[in-house]
Amino acid sequence: MEISKLKIVIFEDLENIRSEADCGAFHAKYLGKAGAITEAMQSLRNLAAEERAKVGAEINIIKRNVEAGFFNIQKTIQEAEINRKLMADTLVDVTIPDLNKEVGSLHPITRVTREVVEIFSSMGFIVAEGNEIVTEFENFESVNVPKHHPARDMQDTFWLSNGMVLKTHTSALQNILLKKHGPVFSAVFPGRCYRNENLDASHEMAFFQVEGMMVGEDISIANLIYFLKQTLSQVLDRDLDVRLRPGYFPFTEPGFEIDISCAFCDDGCSVCKRTKWIEFGGCGMIHPTVLEMGDVDPKKYQGFAFGLGLTRLAMMKYGVNDVRVFNSGKIDALSSIK
Ligand code: PHE
Repeated sequence: MEISKLKIVIFEDLENIRSEADCGAFHAKYLGKAGAITEAMQSLRNLAAEERAKVGAEINIIKRNVEAGFFNIQKTIQEAEINRKLMADTLVDVTIPDLNKEVGSLHPITRVTREVVEIFSSMGFIVAEGNEIVTEFENFESVNVPKHHPARDMQDTFWLSNGMVLKTHTSALQNILLKKHGPVFSAVFPGRCYRNENLDASHEMAFFQVEGMMVGEDISIANLIYFLKQTLSQVLDRDLDVRLRPGYFPFTEPGFEIDISCAFCDDGCSVCKRTKWIEFGGCGMIHPTVLEMGDVDPKKYQGFAFGLGLTRLAMMKYGVNDVRVFNSGKIDALSSIK
């Protein structure tokens, strides 16, 4: 074949190389021992010296160009092939989480509980957790609610057949903490409480409270208001006001109902029943009898205690208007609470 034609054919073939097999075929056809270029070199012998030098130089240039182009293409194809094999051989990392799977999330009450507890613990409060089944003494007597005291009717109690009770309030842990950490300490203790209530949008039989107490030599209601305002403002992410109204609890003297300024309005709405205030729990100075029963001398020490509705706090924080959602177990409804 004439050199000029051969050149055209070679470069056409070069462009059509797609695989390693094509590479092999191309090499054999042109560059190998019996390849067309090799043969053309060999046939130079038959030419006259002058012609040989000229054609020889031409073939050499073609050869170098073809080789350069060919090895380039071959390298690219080989690398692609190695990558393909590597990809195909790679074992999937079985520890990578499957992002398409639905993952669980924390219950809104858990989230709000952790937030409150974290704030108090950052202010030096011990975090405690009591049982849900407690003795009659813990739930009542130890917080100054003796048998036949009318206050027992305020909390419709679930009694167990062994005489114990499902705790009706987190105050059931006060006596234990006073004995364990008194006379100078502060503690915060969340927990699930039970009362035999009729279910509706704002009442559940099982609900969460968080209780706090601070006992020492110079503790006052002013301290209490400070802690409540700090914590609630932080959790609800707004600068809110805390108001105490006189209230009665057998375990406080004096006792107060805690109200916070309504998070939903500035001048009255249905949530706050147009009062601009929302009831949030109870508090007060710990009754001397309660301190005494906890082996703390009420003449020397005093303290405050408060009990907040965590369920209600979660409702306010997340804008939930029916308390029953929390215990419903309905994943759709719960996971939409952000
Ligand atoms: N234990 C009270 C309740 O459940 C709340 C409370 C706690 C009130 C501590 C005063 C002091 O209603």
